[in-house]
Formats: sequence, structure tokens, C-alpha cells
Amino acid sequence: MKKILVIHGPNLNLLGKREVNIYGDVTIDEINGDLKKLAKSKKVALEILQSDHEGEIVEHIGGSCGRFDAILINPAAYTHTSVAIRDAISAVNIPTVEVHLSNIYSREEFRHTSLIAPVAKGQVSGFGKLSYILGLEAAISLINKK
Ligand code: DQA
Repeated sequence: MKKILVIHGPNLNLLGKREVNIYGDVTIDEINGDLKKLAKSKKVALEILQSDHEGEIVEHIGGSCGRFDAILINPAAYTHTSVAIRDAISAVNIPTVEVHLSNIYSREEFRHTSLIAPVAKGQVSGFGKLSYILGLEAAISLINKK
């Protein structure tokens, strides 16, 4: 069975309580539940990680070689700062889809730059929980094309 690594970056464990005017009241458990349902229906396995630590995210990506067919990642604040996460994605050469709940291009200017986008296959931004669903659909279709 094909396998996808799902990574939620820093503070995404606080969804539901955190800036609900921006992120809505969806929780990470609801997102993960919907992702698991979709994966099951498409016969794909998921491993899901949430981490506030850049190094831990880098380690997981680095360790994904040969273990995963695609990566779905919301790098959260590290989107805008992390050369290390970008380099890890580039190094493992596993098709990666970047997702964001909010539209990062309609927010503060510092969020307009994603260091991850140039090494991702594509990005989905601005659709709340649906960004993850669309992102997973894209990741699955990339795997099936291979
Ligand atoms: C986010 C957007 C980032 O700018 C922010 O730092 C987050 C969440 C999103 O999903 O909209 O933590 O990645």
C-alpha cells in the first residue's frame, strides 16, 4: 500500500482555540479524521505528525526516504523561515504538497513568501480544512501517476 507522511507544523495543535477568526473552529483531530477517511477510501496509508520543533520535522522528512511515496505538509510559521525544512524536502526528493488553512497571500506581508513552495509540487492555500483534503487528493494523484 502507498504511504503518505502528513506533517502539521507549530501551533496547529491549538486549532479550534487559536485565532478562530482566521483559522475557524476546526480542530486538528477533525482534520486528521477527514484525512484518514479519504485515505481509507483511496486505499492509501497515512502517518500523521504534529510538531512545534523544526529539527523534529527535519528529522522526519529526512527519515522518510524509501518509507513514503508523498508528503503533505502544513509547515505553519516555518513556511516563512525554514531553510532547513526546505532543504530536507529537496534532499529526499519525495513529491510534496504544501497546504495552508488561511490564504497566506491575503495576510501580513511576511506571510507572502513561502520558502517551501519552490521545492513543493504545488500549494493549496485559503480553503480551511478543505485545503488539506484538496492537498491529499493532489498527493494521491501524484503517487498514482508515478
Ligand atoms: C498557516 C499560515 C502560516 O502563516 C501561519 O504561521 C500558521 C498557519 C495556515 O495554515 O494558514 O501557523 O500555515
